[in-house]
Amino acid sequence: MAAYVHGYGDRERQRLQDQAETLVELLHADTVYPAGSAVLEVGCGTGAQTVTLARQSPGAGITSVDVSQASLRLARAACQTAGIGNVAFRQADLFALPFEPGSFDHVFVCFVLEHLADPGRALACLKRVIRPGGSITVIEGDHGSAYFHPDSALAHRAIQCQVALQAAGGNANIGRQLYPLLAKAGFARDSIKVSPRMVYVDGSKPAWIEGFTRNTFTAMIEGVRDQAVAHGMMTQAEFQKGIQDLLRTATADGVFCYTFFKATATL
Ligand SMILES: C[S@@+](CC[C@H](N)C(=O)[O-])C[C@H]1O[C@@H](n2cnc3c(N)ncnc32)[C@H](O)[C@@H]1O
Repeated sequence: MAAYVHGYGDRERQRLQDQAETLVELLHADTVYPAGSAVLEVGCGTGAQTVTLARQSPGAGITSVDVSQASLRLARAACQTAGIGNVAFRQADLFALPFEPGSFDHVFVCFVLEHLADPGRALACLKRVIRPGGSITVIEGDHGSAYFHPDSALAHRAIQCQVALQAAGGNANIGRQLYPLLAKAGFARDSIKVSPRMVYVDGSKPAWIEGFTRNTFTAMIEGVRDQAVAHGMMTQAEFQKGIQDLLRTATADGVFCYTFFKATATL
């Protein structure tokens, strides 16, 4: 992975947590694995999704891997605090997974492909460890799906800074590509189901204003300010106004829309 655009700081850990808590119902309600099944979570990070995954499928045995030891430590702690007992953590690079072919019934991967230079090769590596008849679930965002009221050219430019910076080793607009990526990786075309999950936030949804518009999306864009300014993409003042305009959409008469993509496929 190229330099991880969001970094591994406390603020990013909190952002991933806010994101996971706000999006639990929208993204995870329909992911339930049968008791006794072996599930591999790839790129578990600080465990923001792991706790939900494990709670939703208490009878499944979940193995959660990440390249970052520091994140794995936090993920372990999060599961301990939540009283989760069906997850084993292990450090591993998804491009060189230390598992035999066909070791898992299901693979789950959330917000990871967007950070990889070669998501197609990643899916091929994940496919190797799924048993025949097993499944993969992939969840990704797509920053091209962000639109809002009041509209703002500077807010769109600030979002574009994040997209351009991430393009060095990933793709912030990858959600729309899940079907072709899975098909190319060899998952049966008629088994691939992509379900767009739209977040719609207006003044009647204070929890979403806080949890998504402010603390997930705007916090993420704000996180690239220094890099964007250092690369001369926007001036400090322009970027700051873009952020202010995003926050303006999180007020009583503002509206913010964003679409995640969730795909499932079987072998
Ligand atoms: C945006 S975080 C998502 C974490 C978690 N899935 C979530 O949704 O909160 C991306 C994670 O992928 C991990 N990652 C990136 N490249 C990886 C690789 N080659 N193998 C394993 N993990 C990787 C990063 O360390 C990071 O923890």
